[in-house]
Amino acid sequence: MRFFIDTANLKEIKEANDLGILDGVTTNPSLMAKEGITGAQNILNHYLAICEIVDGPVSAEVIATDFDGMIREGEQLAALHKNIVVKIPMILEGIKAIKYFSAKNIRTNCTLVFSAGQALLAAKAGATYISPFLGRLDDVSTDGISLIAQIRLIYDNYAFDTAILAASVRHPMHIINCAEIGADVMTGPLSAIKALAKHPLTDLGLQQFLADYAKGNK
Ligand code: G3P
Repeated sequence: MRFFIDTANLKEIKEANDLGILDGVTTNPSLMAKEGITGAQNILNHYLAICEIVDGPVSAEVIATDFDGMIREGEQLAALHKNIVVKIPMILEGIKAIKYFSAKNIRTNCTLVFSAGQALLAAKAGATYISPFLGRLDDVSTDGISLIAQIRLIYDNYAFDTAILAASVRHPMHIINCAEIGADVMTGPLSAIKALAKHPLTDLGLQQFLADYAKGNK
């Protein structure tokens, strides 16, 4: 299972990368705005800064919602760095754009996926990744993990190459549940990734080992 970090915060990206378990980065316009990155050129520079930290796919989202605009922006993003994956919203114009990029071997991440039908359509168009937002489904009393399982079944039935990138991950149980189901990738905040390491018995056990060592080596 590949681990992506879902942030535009360079410090957090570095921290996750230094752990040695980071495979890529996802961003979106809201995450960019949260870091105060505004203006087209600053945003492009920020993607480059991320690509310099992480040697793996970096999703960069188009802002246009029409086919021509998405193609123009997507080609510019893809030309920026070899690690860039063009992130395209799950709308019909987006499906056409994914098909266009797929034919040109430009990698895409179809974002804002909330149903199995959307996931099927994006896979048929040749999306490299699809991003079902499981946390946002949980927010509206709909089981996000069940959607990941449904998409896994459909993709396996037809051997679609499209990778399931579980997104809107909020906590460690989301990551574990996605791993049980067989999501190819998860993208989440640094807090959820670091929380995987936590167990009180580990802390207590280590404390005891160190205390016993200290007793015998006075
Ligand atoms: O990867 C999608 C993500 O950025 C959305 O997460 O927590 O805003 O639902 P969230």
